[in-house]
Amino acid sequence: MGKYLGHQTTSLTDLRKRKAAGQKISMVTCYDASFAKLVDESGIDMVLVGDSLGNVMLGYDSTIPVTMADMIHHTAAVARVLKKPFLVGDMPFFSCNVSLEKTLENAAALVQKGGAQAVKIEGGLPMVPAIKAIVEAGIPVMGHLGLTPQHVHSLGGYKVQGREKAAQQLMIESAKALEAAGVFAIVLELIPAPLAEAITAAVKVPTIGIGAGVGCDGQVLVLQDLLGFDREFTPKFLKKYADLGTIIEGALKKYDQDVKAGAFPGPEHSFSNKAAE
Ligand code: KIV
Repeated sequence: MGKYLGHQTTSLTDLRKRKAAGQKISMVTCYDASFAKLVDESGIDMVLVGDSLGNVMLGYDSTIPVTMADMIHHTAAVARVLKKPFLVGDMPFFSCNVSLEKTLENAAALVQKGGAQAVKIEGGLPMVPAIKAIVEAGIPVMGHLGLTPQHVHSLGGYKVQGREKAAQQLMIESAKALEAAGVFAIVLELIPAPLAEAITAAVKVPTIGIGAGVGCDGQVLVLQDLLGFDREFTPKFLKKYADLGTIIEGALKKYDQDVKAGAFPGPEHSFSNKAAE
């Protein structure tokens, strides 16, 4: 643990030490202050304000419509509350593709206005100049290979990546190039387990898997997925640790019934004229 702006936070050194000691790293997404408060107490090492907030919080059917303003808004809400986990903010669609100047401006905004401690960038070799520039400017960068949802149209859908030999070779080379550009960790999304293992062995920085098997240095899941908000979303890689969708729907139905039946509020929820209350 290191000191950061007066808070006890997990530091990059802690993450490196975990990989060196063979200890797994836990990571979860989070998009708002009420969940950040709960995540903060969980012992989880890293939090990602992912651009998956487009799907989870904003009702889009992809991450492509998510803007810098959306990312800053949600990252700041999490940062106001989160103290212990290391906080990473996602660079949204095309925020790193226009020019290095614009890329640096966007990364700086996510740190300065959003309160992120690092940024995450989707993509391999073409993103190396952007990653290098941000790292050289003093902002830690996390890489993201495999299924990169911002490229859903060119990838032909949300499907497992890196099944062919040539694609596997390219992904291993990309991981090495990201490491050389200075990333502190790499997310590996929806790739075969043996490829994730090969990448994890090929780089010194921690790999954080999602749908990438058991051989990564850590794991990330979307918070609402692991809590079971959407009962219809059951991909193979997901383990649901709760069935909150059912619990929340049940609670809302009961509230609706109570209000309509006059059972809530009751006298115990009401105020009298006494000042002491
Ligand atoms: O946006 C996101 O939530 C992500 C994770 C799934 C890694 O990129």
